[in-house]
Amino acid sequence: MKNTPRAAAGYDLFLSPLDYLVIRRWRRLLWSRVRGPHVLEAGTGTGMNIPHYPRGLRVTALDKGEYYLERAKNRARRLNMPVEFVQGDVQDLPFPEQAFDTVVSTFLFCSVDNPTRGLEELHRVLKPGGRLLLLEHGASRGRLGSFMNSFSEPLYRMTGDHIARDTAALSREVGFAEVQTTPLLWDVVKIVSAKKRENTPRAFAP
Ligand SMILES: C[S@@+](CC[C@H](N)C(=O)[O-])C[C@H]1O[C@@H](n2cnc3c(N)ncnc32)[C@H](O)[C@@H]1O
Repeated sequence: MKNTPRAAAGYDLFLSPLDYLVIRRWRRLLWSRVRGPHVLEAGTGTGMNIPHYPRGLRVTALDKGEYYLERAKNRARRLNMPVEFVQGDVQDLPFPEQAFDTVVSTFLFCSVDNPTRGLEELHRVLKPGGRLLLLEHGASRGRLGSFMNSFSEPLYRMTGDHIARDTAALSREVGFAEVQTTPLLWDVVKIVSAKKRENTPRAFAP
C-alpha cells in the first residue's frame, strides 16, 4: 500500500461503506475478545478499529505509514479515545519483550513483506499467556482456494497485496499455541486467535 495522503484518504473512502455494511461487525467481535490492560494494535491504518476499542484499556496503535497514522490520530481525537500512536514496522517493533497483554491486527498481514518476521515480533512483545488476535483474509481450502491462488500472483504485482496467505499456519510455525480460526465469510475472511505459551522464557534478561 502506498503511503501518500491520497492513498490514505482513498483507503477510507473505499472502505467506509464496506465497513458500515459488514466489516464493523467482524471488528466488534474481534475486539470483544481483547483483554488488557495493555494492548498493541499493529497496522492500525486510518484507525477503523478505534470506535471498537473497549474503554479502560491502554491501547498502543502502530503503523508504518505516517499519512495513515495522521488520519487515525484525527479519528481518535474525534472519538475522544486516548491512544498512544507509534510510527514503526511490525517486522522490527520498537517495544521491549513481553510488553503487551494482547496483540491485535486487522487486514495487516496481506501487505507485510515478511509475515513470519512480523509474527515473530508480535510473539516477542506479547506476555506469556497473552493472546494474538488477527482479522484476516487469506488462504482458503477447496475450489475457492485454488481460484484465489490462481490470481494471487498477478494481483500482488498490481496491488502489492497477498490475498491468500495462511497466517494461522505461520502463527503455529513461529511458536504460538492454541491456534484457532473463526470463519466469517466462507473460510476466506476469518479471525485467527492464538496464545503465547505460559512457559516461554525471555530471550534477554530484562
Ligand atoms: C489494509 S490496511 C489495514 C488497516 C486497518 N488495520 C484496517 O483494518 O482498516 C494495512 C495497513 O498496514 C500498514 N502496514 C503494512 N505493512 C506494515 C508494516 N510492515 N508495519 C506496520 N504497518 C504496516 C499499512 O500502512 C496500512 O495502514
